[in-house]
Amino acid sequence: MTLNQLESWSRTNMCGDLRKEATGKEVILMGWVNNRRDHGGVIFIDLRDYTGLCQIVFGNQHDANSFERADTLRSENVIAIKGIVADRADNMINPKMVTGEIEIFVTELKILNTCKNLPLQISDEQQEVNEKTRLKYRTLDLRRPAMQENLMLRSKAAQVVRNFFYDSQFFEIDTPFLTRSTPEGARDFLVPSRVNPGKFFALPQSPQLFKQMLMISGYDRYFQIVKCFRDEDLRGNRQPEFTQIDIEMSFTDQAQVISVVEKMVQKLFKETINVDVQLPIIQMTYAEAMDDYGVDAPDLRYDLKLKDVSSIIKGCGFKVFSGATDKGGIVKTIMVPNGSSLSRKELDDFTDFVKIFKSKGMAWAKINEDGWQSPIAKFFTEEEIQAINEKTGAKPGDLILFGADTSKIVNDSLGNLRKEIAKKLGLVNDDVFKFVWVTDFPLFEYDETEKRYSSSHHPFTMPVIEDLEKWGETDPSKIKSIAYDLVLNGVELGGGSIRIHQKEIQEKIFKLLNLSDQEIKEKFGFFIESLEFGAPPHGGLAFGFDRIMMFLNKTSSIRDVIPFPKTQQASCLLTEAPSDVALDQLKELGLAIRKSNQ
Ligand code: AMO
Ligand code: AMP
Repeated sequence: MTLNQLESWSRTNMCGDLRKEATGKEVILMGWVNNRRDHGGVIFIDLRDYTGLCQIVFGNQHDANSFERADTLRSENVIAIKGIVADRADNMINPKMVTGEIEIFVTELKILNTCKNLPLQISDEQQEVNEKTRLKYRTLDLRRPAMQENLMLRSKAAQVVRNFFYDSQFFEIDTPFLTRSTPEGARDFLVPSRVNPGKFFALPQSPQLFKQMLMISGYDRYFQIVKCFRDEDLRGNRQPEFTQIDIEMSFTDQAQVISVVEKMVQKLFKETINVDVQLPIIQMTYAEAMDDYGVDAPDLRYDLKLKDVSSIIKGCGFKVFSGATDKGGIVKTIMVPNGSSLSRKELDDFTDFVKIFKSKGMAWAKINEDGWQSPIAKFFTEEEIQAINEKTGAKPGDLILFGADTSKIVNDSLGNLRKEIAKKLGLVNDDVFKFVWVTDFPLFEYDETEKRYSSSHHPFTMPVIEDLEKWGETDPSKIKSIAYDLVLNGVELGGGSIRIHQKEIQEKIFKLLNLSDQEIKEKFGFFIESLEFGAPPHGGLAFGFDRIMMFLNKTSSIRDVIPFPKTQQASCLLTEAPSDVALDQLKELGLAIRKSNQ
């Protein structure tokens, strides 16, 4: 092999480019050997690059030398060929290939590289390969057409977003990765500083404070497609390192932020997957979402709404229900149309399912022509049964499921059960996109494990001032905030808020969160001071870019839209990070590893 293997060759076309019109033309193609078929006297190869496949033909009559060497070619060898585009005979046309009407008669072959035995095949049929193998050999996995499509669409989506914001007078400004902790509710990834022994940077959980400071600096409208780092439990659509489309605007209010970003969403869905998003996107308050769906990110593709029957069953003969309302809890139902055909086993499975969410059980009633068929029917009067049927809209053939407990447990368990039932009954259509803005979030939520209130979004969120003034008089979870989430098909795509821009309110919120003056000064002194230098009213939002890409690519795995993702155990199987480091390195940083039992 010569050092400059390509010599003066340069590609005339990509593999997926050529059509009938190019017949007779001399072309140079380069790419990977997708497969080879030896028909004795002729060798066919499908040559592949990211644009697709092209059939190339080696034969003695075209060029004896390359025909001979083509015999040695194997899958994933890298080659360059010169050849003549030829029309395929009608009976040889391959309608499955976009280049299926032509083939290339090879007149010269350069073998640029070989490939050792493959641990996984470069084919989408191989998608079922163990995910560990896919992640370990990510270079090969990313060569598969499906993954290439995912990442190319990601690139396109990023460009659409950039163009949209640039055209809307937003500045793309970057913010530091080596910084202080920003409270977004997860643990920080820490980076030790060699120059300042014993001190640490935190990787940003989001650029929240920096984007706010950019508003204070007068940049008016900011966006960034930016990495965020959160050391949190990695269920479902979460990664420790993920990408946000981060946005902030000055002199604005909730309606303006929503109006700008929903236009971006509309453009993004149109220009990437040609889906029309109807604007304005509907809005629903947090309270409505919890009432009707039990969750703050409702999936509106199907109905199955939760109905509160507490007022009907109050004082009923079934102690599980009346006991729950007596203790300040609630009883809610899900009515499943035609659900009375569900088997006992299926109902038992639902009961096991709600137990995951701390529910103690799930009562049910099948509606027959002559009344309820239910283990709990005997506890109810005819009037109560009638009222529940009416409230839930149940008719003969339908099924009512009941949950009784604290409102948190009932909403959690029935909200999730609702999704489970929809899946089971085939009500979930992945070709439908149901967006909804959820607004009026509570400012604080009660943290059961830490036994204290914390911010529902983050502590820079503007409270509804009239509510805040009632602090001490009402339940803190009743204080509302000017915060909003964009939800798509039951997934939180993005969230944001109008921010606090007055020092006094910001300090008050920190105090309500139980931060001492000392802690406020230490952690946020720089920020509070910035607020004092003429901070304009401002607000914004951040989207999970990876989550958007999951929808655009129609995949249920966040790892399919991130080129080099981490496993559920937060490790990279390709580079084997995180890894041990040399003792010298630790020493230099003033660190020592403590054994876990010390
Ligand atoms: P928030 O914490 O809600 O808001 O994050 C915004 C969006 O980022 C996505 N997201 C994630 N995606 C993948 N993996 C994760 N671990 C992960 N965590 C969050 C979600 C989420 O809606 N600074 C605020 C935004 C603001 O107020 O402007 C923030 O970060 O899609
Ligand atoms: P029990 O009287 O405990 O045997 O329960 C009778 C029925 O009520 C069973 O179907 C239980 O699954 C159901 N059940 C028990 N606890 C609850 C609860 N907290 N909410 C709803 N149903 C319940």
